[in-house]
Amino acid sequence: MRADGRDPIREAARLLTERRNAVALTGAGISVESGIPSFRGAQGLWAKYDPMEYATLHSFMQHPRKVWEMLSEMVSVCGGATPNAAHKGLASLEEKGVVRSVITQNVDGLHQAAGSRRVIEYHGNLDELICVYCWRRFQTRDRWTPGDVPLCDCGEILKPNVVLFGEPIPWLPQEQAEEEARTCGVLVVIGTSAQVSPACDIPRIAKESGAAVVEINPEDTSLSGNVTDIHLRGSASEVLQRLLQTIFT
Ligand code: APR
Repeated sequence: MRADGRDPIREAARLLTERRNAVALTGAGISVESGIPSFRGAQGLWAKYDPMEYATLHSFMQHPRKVWEMLSEMVSVCGGATPNAAHKGLASLEEKGVVRSVITQNVDGLHQAAGSRRVIEYHGNLDELICVYCWRRFQTRDRWTPGDVPLCDCGEILKPNVVLFGEPIPWLPQEQAEEEARTCGVLVVIGTSAQVSPACDIPRIAKESGAAVVEINPEDTSLSGNVTDIHLRGSASEVLQRLLQTIFT
């Protein structure tokens, strides 16, 4: 219950149903309950692999086999993961016309697996590999085996079609995401520390365009207390299930 005595879940539910024009922005936190570690925090992937050594485009070009040590872990963990109640809750809100799209920073494909149809993959997806030398593309499952590095027909080591640090966001998802942020009535920000640009600019764009910003995160972030209008503290699956119950019962 907020200091002013109002129930934030009810308030968020009211906004979502009145405006029926919500967009979700998701980060690694929504997939934690599917067994995929987030990036930051004590158990995060970056606690094990320094991102400046293992997750930049420059490091991939210089030491692709080293970068594949980290990538192999991501491909293995994501490959074995299934959507959790939060992914399914978002898909249900889309089906019921409350949420119109999901902008995700995640590369695990779990929103589509849960049934979400309008998904903007802001940082790409691990299920495709590209050759940075001859531009051929392959399905990861056809070219990657655990413990090995995937090779292109031209002989070079392939790269997952995900955005590494130092890489630009592909123009289409960036344009789509900004358009969604500018025209939505509510932006629901789920499971992101909002530390990485330009994804972290999306909530501000939405806010400046008149949207209400609802944040679902057990912790405070750089958005909390300034961009965020309603902070629903808790895990993504628990909060989304409560939101669905409040909206549809
Ligand atoms: N439900 C909701 N939120 C959660 C949960 C949960 N069960 N568990 C953790 N969180 C929150 C954390 O409090 C944190 O704020 O999820 C957030 C995860 O933050 P990060 O690990 O920084 O992940 P993210 O914000 O998605 O990172 C953005 O950085 O490393 C790059 O490209 C990578 O897409 C990634 C980007």
